[in-house]
Amino acid sequence: MTLGLIRAEFLLRDVTLADAPTLFAWRCAPRIAEMMLQPRPTSFEAHLGYLRGVLASSDTHALYVLEHRGRPVGHVGLKLSPEDAGTGDWTIYLGEMDAPRGSGFALGVLALDRIFERPGFALLRTRILRRNALSQRLHVRLGFTREAEAEASAAEPVGIWSLTAAAWKPHRITAFHAAFRAAQPG
Ligand SMILES: CC(C)(COP(=O)(O)OP(=O)(O)OC[C@H]1O[C@@H](n2cnc3c(N)ncnc32)[C@H](O)[C@@H]1OP(=O)(O)O)[C@@H](O)C(=O)NCCC(=O)NCCS
Repeated sequence: MTLGLIRAEFLLRDVTLADAPTLFAWRCAPRIAEMMLQPRPTSFEAHLGYLRGVLASSDTHALYVLEHRGRPVGHVGLKLSPEDAGTGDWTIYLGEMDAPRGSGFALGVLALDRIFERPGFALLRTRILRRNALSQRLHVRLGFTREAEAEASAAEPVGIWSLTAAAWKPHRITAFHAAFRAAQPG
Protein backbone atom coordinates (compact mmCIF):
# COMPACT_ATOMS: atom_id res chain seq x y z
CA MET A 1 0.00 0.00 0.00
CA THR A 2 1.40 3.38 -0.96
CA LEU A 3 0.92 6.65 0.87
CA GLY A 4 -0.99 7.93 -2.19
CA LEU A 5 -3.41 4.99 -2.00
CA ILE A 6 -3.88 5.48 1.73
CA ARG A 7 -4.61 9.18 1.19
CA ALA A 8 -7.05 8.44 -1.64
CA GLU A 9 -9.02 5.81 0.30
CA PHE A 10 -8.68 6.81 3.94
CA LEU A 11 -9.17 9.97 5.97
CA LEU A 12 -8.12 10.53 9.57
CA ARG A 13 -10.30 13.15 11.23
CA ASP A 14 -10.91 14.46 14.73
CA VAL A 15 -13.61 12.78 16.81
CA THR A 16 -16.76 14.83 17.52
CA LEU A 17 -19.59 14.18 19.97
CA ALA A 18 -21.64 12.83 17.03
CA ASP A 19 -19.23 9.83 17.02
CA ALA A 20 -20.24 8.87 20.57
CA PRO A 21 -22.69 6.05 19.63
CA THR A 22 -20.23 4.50 17.15
CA LEU A 23 -17.28 4.71 19.53
CA PHE A 24 -19.40 3.27 22.36
CA ALA A 25 -20.51 0.32 20.21
CA TRP A 26 -16.92 -0.35 19.10
CA ARG A 27 -15.45 -0.01 22.59
CA CYS A 28 -18.01 -2.47 24.04
CA ALA A 29 -17.61 -5.08 21.27
CA PRO A 30 -16.04 -8.17 22.90
CA ARG A 31 -13.15 -8.42 20.38
CA ILE A 32 -12.06 -4.90 21.35
CA ALA A 33 -13.05 -4.79 25.04
CA GLU A 34 -11.13 -8.04 25.69
CA MET A 35 -7.91 -6.46 24.43
CA MET A 36 -8.15 -3.20 26.40
CA LEU A 37 -6.44 -2.66 29.75
CA GLN A 38 -9.10 -0.20 30.94
CA PRO A 39 -12.55 -1.52 31.90
CA ARG A 40 -15.33 -1.03 29.36
CA PRO A 41 -17.66 1.98 29.94
CA THR A 42 -20.47 1.17 32.38
CA SER A 43 -23.16 2.94 30.29
CA PHE A 44 -23.60 5.14 27.24
CA GLU A 45 -24.10 8.16 29.54
CA ALA A 46 -20.79 7.44 31.29
CA HIS A 47 -19.09 7.14 27.90
CA LEU A 48 -20.65 10.43 26.71
CA GLY A 49 -19.47 12.19 29.89
CA TYR A 50 -15.95 10.83 29.36
CA LEU A 51 -15.97 11.93 25.71
CA ARG A 52 -17.21 15.45 26.56
CA GLY A 53 -14.38 15.81 29.08
CA VAL A 54 -11.72 14.57 26.69
CA LEU A 55 -12.93 16.74 23.80
CA ALA A 56 -12.65 19.77 26.08
CA SER A 57 -9.01 18.86 26.87
CA SER A 58 -7.27 19.24 23.53
CA ASP A 59 -4.04 20.18 25.32
CA THR A 60 -3.82 16.71 26.89
CA HIS A 61 -5.84 14.47 24.55
CA ALA A 62 -6.38 13.91 20.83
CA LEU A 63 -9.02 11.55 19.45
CA TYR A 64 -9.21 10.46 15.83
CA VAL A 65 -11.55 8.43 13.65
CA LEU A 66 -10.35 6.66 10.50
CA GLU A 67 -12.81 6.80 7.61
CA HIS A 68 -12.62 4.47 4.62
CA ARG A 69 -14.43 6.07 1.67
CA GLY A 70 -16.45 8.17 4.13
CA ARG A 71 -17.35 5.31 6.51
CA PRO A 72 -15.88 5.30 10.03
CA VAL A 73 -13.85 2.11 10.55
CA GLY A 74 -11.34 2.73 13.33
CA HIS A 75 -10.14 4.84 16.21
CA VAL A 76 -6.96 6.18 17.79
CA GLY A 77 -6.89 7.99 21.12
CA LEU A 78 -3.80 9.85 22.37
CA LYS A 79 -3.34 10.85 25.99
CA LEU A 80 -0.36 13.01 26.93
CA SER A 81 1.55 12.28 30.10
CA PRO A 82 0.61 14.74 32.90
CA GLU A 83 4.32 14.96 33.85
CA ASP A 84 5.75 15.42 30.36
CA ALA A 85 3.74 16.75 27.40
CA GLY A 86 6.40 15.35 25.03
CA THR A 87 5.34 11.82 25.99
CA GLY A 88 2.00 10.07 25.60
CA ASP A 89 0.10 6.80 25.28
CA TRP A 90 -2.24 5.70 22.53
CA THR A 91 -5.14 3.32 22.09
CA ILE A 92 -5.75 1.92 18.62
CA TYR A 93 -8.45 -0.31 17.19
CA LEU A 94 -10.43 -1.15 14.10
CA GLY A 95 -14.12 -1.00 14.96
CA GLU A 96 -15.55 -2.51 11.78
CA MET A 97 -14.79 -6.18 11.16
CA ASP A 98 -15.12 -5.79 7.39
CA ALA A 99 -12.70 -2.85 7.07
CA PRO A 100 -10.43 -3.58 4.08
CA ARG A 101 -7.08 -5.30 4.59
CA GLY A 102 -4.45 -2.78 5.51
CA SER A 103 -6.88 -0.54 7.44
CA GLY A 104 -4.98 -1.08 10.69
CA PHE A 105 -1.73 -0.09 8.98
CA ALA A 106 -3.39 2.98 7.38
CA LEU A 107 -4.85 4.01 10.74
CA GLY A 108 -1.48 3.65 12.43
CA VAL A 109 0.48 5.55 9.78
CA LEU A 110 -1.97 8.46 9.51
CA ALA A 111 -2.28 8.77 13.29
CA LEU A 112 1.50 8.61 13.84
CA ASP A 113 2.01 11.36 11.25
CA ARG A 114 -0.51 13.55 13.11
CA ILE A 115 0.82 12.73 16.57
CA PHE A 116 4.49 13.34 15.73
CA GLU A 117 3.52 16.65 14.07
CA ARG A 118 2.65 17.96 17.54
CA PRO A 119 5.37 20.46 18.53
CA GLY A 120 7.71 18.92 21.09
CA PHE A 121 6.07 15.48 20.99
CA ALA A 122 8.90 12.93 21.17
CA LEU A 123 7.82 9.55 22.61
CA LEU A 124 4.71 7.42 22.14
CA ARG A 125 4.06 4.43 24.40
CA THR A 126 1.41 1.75 24.54
CA ARG A 127 0.69 -1.27 26.70
CA ILE A 128 -0.19 -4.45 24.81
CA LEU A 129 -1.41 -7.74 26.28
CA ARG A 130 1.07 -10.52 25.52
CA ARG A 131 -1.79 -12.60 24.05
CA ASN A 132 -2.66 -9.83 21.54
CA ALA A 133 -0.58 -11.09 18.62
CA LEU A 134 -2.37 -8.98 15.98
CA SER A 135 -1.69 -5.76 17.83
CA GLN A 136 1.96 -6.66 18.46
CA ARG A 137 2.39 -7.44 14.76
CA LEU A 138 0.88 -4.10 13.75
CA HIS A 139 3.06 -2.21 16.23
CA VAL A 140 6.19 -3.98 14.94
CA ARG A 141 5.17 -3.03 11.39
CA LEU A 142 4.80 0.58 12.56
CA GLY A 143 8.29 0.58 14.09
CA PHE A 144 7.50 0.21 17.80
CA THR A 145 9.86 -1.80 19.98
CA ARG A 146 9.05 -3.60 23.21
CA GLU A 147 10.88 -1.76 25.94
CA ALA A 148 9.72 -3.68 29.03
CA GLU A 149 7.22 -5.92 30.73
CA ALA A 150 4.60 -3.98 32.69
CA GLU A 151 4.68 -3.98 36.49
CA ALA A 152 4.27 -7.36 38.19
CA SER A 153 0.86 -6.39 39.63
CA ALA A 154 -0.74 -6.61 36.17
CA ALA A 155 -3.39 -9.35 36.09
CA GLU A 156 -1.80 -10.92 33.01
CA PRO A 157 1.43 -10.35 31.03
CA VAL A 158 1.57 -6.94 29.36
CA GLY A 159 4.38 -5.45 27.31
CA ILE A 160 5.24 -1.76 27.18
CA TRP A 161 5.97 -0.73 23.60
CA SER A 162 7.38 2.57 22.39
CA LEU A 163 8.25 4.61 19.31
CA THR A 164 10.20 7.86 19.22
CA ALA A 165 9.63 10.74 16.80
CA ALA A 166 13.24 10.31 15.62
CA ALA A 167 12.66 6.60 14.85
CA TRP A 168 9.29 7.15 13.13
CA LYS A 169 10.63 9.43 10.38
CA PRO A 170 13.00 6.86 8.80
CA HIS A 171 10.82 3.88 9.72
CA ARG A 172 7.74 5.10 7.87
CA ILE A 173 9.59 4.79 4.55
CA THR A 174 10.69 1.21 5.35
CA ALA A 175 7.16 0.37 6.48
CA PHE A 176 5.67 1.55 3.20
CA HIS A 177 8.13 -0.50 1.15
CA ALA A 178 7.28 -3.63 3.21
CA ALA A 179 3.52 -3.00 2.97
CA PHE A 180 3.75 -2.35 -0.77
CA ARG A 181 5.58 -5.66 -1.28
CA ALA A 182 2.99 -7.48 0.90
CA ALA A 183 0.19 -6.09 -1.27
CA GLN A 184 1.69 -7.38 -4.54
CA PRO A 185 0.03 -10.59 -5.84
CA GLY A 186 2.24 -13.73 -5.88
C1 LIG B 1 -4.87 -4.44 16.53
C2 LIG B 1 -5.51 -4.17 15.17
C3 LIG B 1 -5.74 -2.67 14.97
C4 LIG B 1 -4.51 -4.69 14.12
O1 LIG B 1 -5.01 -4.48 12.84
P1 LIG B 1 -4.42 -5.37 11.61
O2 LIG B 1 -5.00 -6.72 11.69
O3 LIG B 1 -2.95 -5.29 11.58
O4 LIG B 1 -5.04 -4.59 10.43
P2 LIG B 1 -4.55 -4.49 8.94
O5 LIG B 1 -5.81 -4.16 8.21
O6 LIG B 1 -3.44 -3.54 8.81
O7 LIG B 1 -4.04 -5.93 8.58
C5 LIG B 1 -4.94 -6.97 8.22
C6 LIG B 1 -4.27 -7.86 7.24
O8 LIG B 1 -3.88 -7.12 6.11
C7 LIG B 1 -2.46 -7.25 5.92
N1 LIG B 1 -1.92 -5.96 5.54
C8 LIG B 1 -1.43 -5.04 6.35
N2 LIG B 1 -1.00 -3.98 5.65
C9 LIG B 1 -1.27 -4.26 4.37
C10 LIG B 1 -1.08 -3.56 3.19
N3 LIG B 1 -0.50 -2.38 3.19
N4 LIG B 1 -1.50 -4.12 2.05
C11 LIG B 1 -2.06 -5.32 2.07
N5 LIG B 1 -2.26 -6.04 3.16
C12 LIG B 1 -1.86 -5.51 4.30
C13 LIG B 1 -1.93 -7.65 7.24
O9 LIG B 1 -0.70 -8.35 7.08
C14 LIG B 1 -3.02 -8.51 7.76
O10 LIG B 1 -2.85 -9.76 7.17
P3 LIG B 1 -3.69 -11.05 7.55
O11 LIG B 1 -5.01 -10.87 6.90
O12 LIG B 1 -2.88 -12.17 6.99
O13 LIG B 1 -3.79 -11.06 9.03
C15 LIG B 1 -6.85 -4.93 15.02
O14 LIG B 1 -6.60 -6.31 15.04
C16 LIG B 1 -7.85 -4.62 16.13
O15 LIG B 1 -8.54 -3.61 16.09
N6 LIG B 1 -7.95 -5.52 17.15
C17 LIG B 1 -8.89 -5.39 18.26
C18 LIG B 1 -8.53 -4.28 19.23
C19 LIG B 1 -7.08 -4.31 19.65
O16 LIG B 1 -6.53 -5.35 19.95
N7 LIG B 1 -6.45 -3.11 19.69
C20 LIG B 1 -5.07 -2.96 20.12
C21 LIG B 1 -4.99 -2.89 21.60
S1 LIG B 1 -3.30 -2.76 22.14
